[in-house]
Amino acid sequence: MKILVTGGAGFIGSHVVDGYIKEGHDVVVVDNLCTGKLSNLNPKARFYLMDIRSEDLRKVFEIEKPDIVNHHAAQISVPDSVRNPSLDADINIMGLLNILDNSVRFHVKKFIFISTGGAVYGETEDIPTPESTLPQPMSPYAITKLCSEHYIRFYNHHYGLDYTILRYANIYGARQIPHAEAGVVSIFINTLKEGKVPVIYHYPEEPDGMTRDYCYVSDVVKANQLVLTRGSSEIINIGTSVETTTGELYRMILNIMREHGYAKEAIFDTPEKGPARPGDLRRSALSIEKAKSLLGWTPEYDLYRGLRETVKAELQG
Ligand SMILES: NC(=O)c1ccc[n+]([C@@H]2O[C@H](COP(=O)([O-])OP(=O)(O)OC[C@H]3O[C@@H](n4cnc5c(N)ncnc54)[C@H](O)[C@@H]3O)[C@@H](O)[C@H]2O)c1
Repeated sequence: MKILVTGGAGFIGSHVVDGYIKEGHDVVVVDNLCTGKLSNLNPKARFYLMDIRSEDLRKVFEIEKPDIVNHHAAQISVPDSVRNPSLDADINIMGLLNILDNSVRFHVKKFIFISTGGAVYGETEDIPTPESTLPQPMSPYAITKLCSEHYIRFYNHHYGLDYTILRYANIYGARQIPHAEAGVVSIFINTLKEGKVPVIYHYPEEPDGMTRDYCYVSDVVKANQLVLTRGSSEIINIGTSVETTTGELYRMILNIMREHGYAKEAIFDTPEKGPARPGDLRRSALSIEKAKSLLGWTPEYDLYRGLRETVKAELQG
């Protein structure tokens, strides 16, 4: 199959590109490199340095005529979306519509969209959160992701464009950038590598920090491979259902860094504490029953194993 991956030079998108190429697919990447890197890019992918909002995107579709579009490109920073909601909406909504219009015009068979289970549900008691929970987005980033889901359903009803929407938990792994949703993994590793003590943000009643559902990027790649042929017209969570506090995450990373000779001193045992930042959710973990039943997908990496791989890659890179 010919697959166009937007954001294919970014953290998750570049792993997805590698996974598709490994399966023998022909892959085209559109990325403006605003956070992505050329060094992430698989040399077997054809690359167009382009903004997803550009009128020239039409030419890419005309030349390449992809069977599948996998849309990973986005403004991904929650704090940036709070500071500049217009820019967030411009990239995440106007960019999406440009890709959707071209997908319809050039008869794309399926549209895979990456949404966020870590943000769209907002503060909920329903944990692990199933897809049926009413989303209550608390940031412009989460709002534009939820709004995108509605546009995609409209393009499906109106034009018959097939789709699968994946709502990711907090994804971590090699090539991760610090300001993404699970950026804390990269921040802890790099702060310890520099010999500094990291800060754990927390609410007063939860001294060990907020909880998140950390999912390893190789498992996410597998889900993107499965939805090429499964999960039509569905919204599907991708995570682990396991809640981990920031403190637990820190202690795991500290242990692994110590195995590599870093952060041996006792000062690293007691990280600094800071107040939760505006918009920080207290708890987050996703139900993955739907991914199991519809895609036959389960995560293979537990957190410790995934973190070991991530630390190894970060220290080599
Ligand atoms: N990292 C996570 O934990 C997480 C969780 C939920 C959802 N997501 C979603 O996964 C996707 C990938 O995120 P990531 O963490 O790999 O971030 P990333 O910043 O590494 O990847 C985004 C890519 O999109 C590109 N891009 C951004 N704006 C663009 C534009 N206007 N035109 C063309 N290219 C553009 C960037 O250069 C980058 O290569 C995003 O849609 C994000 O919202 C990520």
